[in-house]
Amino acid sequence: MELDQLANLTVYTKDQGYARYGDVKVGLLTHGLNYGTGCFEGVRGFWNAQEHELYLLRLAPHFERITQSAKILNIDLGMSVDAMVETTIELCARNGFESDVYIRPLAYKAGQDVGVRLHSVPDAFAIVAIPFNRYIDSEGGLNVCTSSWRRVDDCSVPARAKITGAYVNSALAKSEAAQNGFDEALMLSADGHVSEGSAENFFMVKHGMLVTPDASQNILEGITRNSIIEIARDALGLEVRERSIDRTEVYVCEEAFLCGSAAGIAPIVSLDRRVIGSGKIGPVTQRLMSVYENAVRGREPRYRSWITPTYAGRKTAAAG
Ligand SMILES: Cc1ncc(COP(=O)(O)O)c(C=O)c1O
Repeated sequence: MELDQLANLTVYTKDQGYARYGDVKVGLLTHGLNYGTGCFEGVRGFWNAQEHELYLLRLAPHFERITQSAKILNIDLGMSVDAMVETTIELCARNGFESDVYIRPLAYKAGQDVGVRLHSVPDAFAIVAIPFNRYIDSEGGLNVCTSSWRRVDDCSVPARAKITGAYVNSALAKSEAAQNGFDEALMLSADGHVSEGSAENFFMVKHGMLVTPDASQNILEGITRNSIIEIARDALGLEVRERSIDRTEVYVCEEAFLCGSAAGIAPIVSLDRRVIGSGKIGPVTQRLMSVYENAVRGREPRYRSWITPTYAGRKTAAAG
């Protein structure tokens, strides 16, 4: 998005309420900016042109997770999950979006003194929402490499919390992969087991079963990951295992994909130049993608509880 368009967006900050993006200032010495002491969420909204409605995906789980991340970082959000959900719906309605969107709730240490710590620093909270299309181009499948960077460990920077500073780890892996000609990076934990992508969880299909690293593998416990486990078990009748995965198990698996709020379901067609399965998007991945795409746009009655309409029943509803 161009900077002048961004400046005119309506955003929410706990201090100022609804405000113009261009009118909100963050000081250069802000702790969150200098020390990475913040946490955030990445929430998606999907436009349904037929219904002229913007569906916001899994709002409560995202705000429950930022509440947990904030707890780990000693940040007082000062808002309940319900209040953050309501504010997000209102924010999207005020912006009148008629496209897919990305919503970025952000909580951070807002003190502007020198001295790294979590205690005795004031906190801030904001939500920004922007029109958004694709995060990664995964149409033909992703060529992925195993990163030389290891995933941050729970006893160093907890991966379970979505901590701003921890994304240095993701950025190192992503840029290394891109600069070496790959689409994405697969990160191993310190003990050499598969953890996750730079900003996505990992799944593989083995003997027709869906397998994903368990919560002790230094993963962010993804909301898309949970949605996929639910679809796989309930809609597709697949068995799902959460366990540690060896790097070379992925070389010989039947199918593999990454998933996340931003990326959706992104099939992997090769890892470290080894073709995965047939080298094309596999049948299990395809079925999951199809149910997921329908669910997020409000076309899957079974998963209607995952989505919240922005405009339904509002006077400010988008025209049409
Ligand atoms: C490191 C990391 N892992 C996994 C995910 C996927 O999580 P979710 O599905 O909740 O977006 C993300 C994206 O938020 C991420 O940044």
